[in-house]
Amino acid sequence: MEILKIGVMGARRGSSFMRTLQYMEEAKVVAICEVDDAALEENEYVTDEMKIYRDYDEFVHSGLDAVILCNFFHEHAPYAIKAFEAGVAVLSETTAAASLGECVQLVEKCEEHQGTYILLANCPYFTAVHAMKKRIDEGKMGRVLYGEAEYLHYTHVEDGSKIKKDTDLNNLHWRQVLPSNMYNMHTLGTLMYVTGSVPMKVSCKMIRRTDFYKSPRKLTDCNGSVVITEMSNGAVFNTTGCSGYAPTSKWYRLACEQGTMETKRYDKREDKLIVAGLDGNSEEMSPSLEEAGLVKEGDGFNLSAYEKSSHGGIDYHLTRAFIRVLLKKEKPFLDVYRSAALSAAGILGWYSALSDGKELRIPDFTKKEERDAVRDDFRTPFAKRYSDLQMPCRLDEKDKFVL
Ligand SMILES: NC(=O)c1ccc[n+]([C@@H]2O[C@H](COP(=O)([O-])OP(=O)(O)OC[C@H]3O[C@@H](n4cnc5c(N)ncnc54)[C@H](O)[C@@H]3O)[C@@H](O)[C@H]2O)c1
Repeated sequence: MEILKIGVMGARRGSSFMRTLQYMEEAKVVAICEVDDAALEENEYVTDEMKIYRDYDEFVHSGLDAVILCNFFHEHAPYAIKAFEAGVAVLSETTAAASLGECVQLVEKCEEHQGTYILLANCPYFTAVHAMKKRIDEGKMGRVLYGEAEYLHYTHVEDGSKIKKDTDLNNLHWRQVLPSNMYNMHTLGTLMYVTGSVPMKVSCKMIRRTDFYKSPRKLTDCNGSVVITEMSNGAVFNTTGCSGYAPTSKWYRLACEQGTMETKRYDKREDKLIVAGLDGNSEEMSPSLEEAGLVKEGDGFNLSAYEKSSHGGIDYHLTRAFIRVLLKKEKPFLDVYRSAALSAAGILGWYSALSDGKELRIPDFTKKEERDAVRDDFRTPFAKRYSDLQMPCRLDEKDKFVL
């Protein structure tokens, strides 16, 4: 069997995949692209067999089958496009693209080069979350009507170095700028996967907290978001993005025609599922990996590798899904079109927040005429330098924004 040669870009989050890929027979990490020596030194999974690159072009042309993009949040699309051009498959961290124009470029370059693309969203692989998907797919719940997904990450309030003087505004980290609704793969992305739906319309309100919006570590002035999304299956979802209040946790709920399912709040492993029927009686379940549809007989599942993998094993399921896609055994749900729609829900959600919560339509990226309508819109709230910002990243500057 030919072993797939994987390159990891960004050695911080990338270390999770290096850890998980140690246990995979079908693929191995042969190259890393990283410019920060500290990130390499702190990464315990770097071995002498891996070649280290500082230059992405050299890295992507070094004979790789696939790259795992774990670089800065808002810079994945240009590197994914270079990978398509080099004939290399892409597993991309989120967000897929940071502007609507970049979403179009990503989709069209993927089409042009018949590229392989999968978004790195790991929360769909929580046992309880996957069990929800299985129950829906088996027709046990009827149509999905309403969904909620909550991702709270309090520690981000303290992330980033202090912005002390004007010159510091030339070296901003994305976590200091991020409108929280745009970090949406753990919430909206997960509900898309579970329900097989795509976002069609979005409106968004932001939450502000005095100590957060006055924090010298932040440029954005919002620490939370409420995102209402109308989906292609007619359901409406209410999601948080990555909201900066305590306690750090994730939680999912789906109200369906035949009852309601939810994960257990503050259960870090997300392996308990509560199902309530129309009569109001509820049952707490602990589905096995098989019952959740995550493991099938004879599919090569390795329990010890799963237990040793990062994020409680969900990165193991995600990496296995990626390998199945590379080996052409399955098609990814979060393909380039749906991943672009998820990013667009984040971008347009921020446009909406700056427009007092106005509901906005999300393009269908499979249709050229819908791509044409947004292909020249490269506005994004991210920039390394404050002076390069093309649109506000603070709600208190919303008057500067024209829809
Ligand atoms: N799904 C998850 O559970 C999860 C968890 C953490 C982070 N992430 C995602 O991972 C990505 C990275 O986040 P992070 O937490 O690792 O922090 P980060 O964004 O600070 O790290 C990015 C790393 O990429 C390197 N890098 C960036 N551009 C480069 C270039 N052109 N050439 C070489 N190296 C380059 C940087 O030096 C840095 O070490 C983000 O998109 C984030 O959303 C996902």
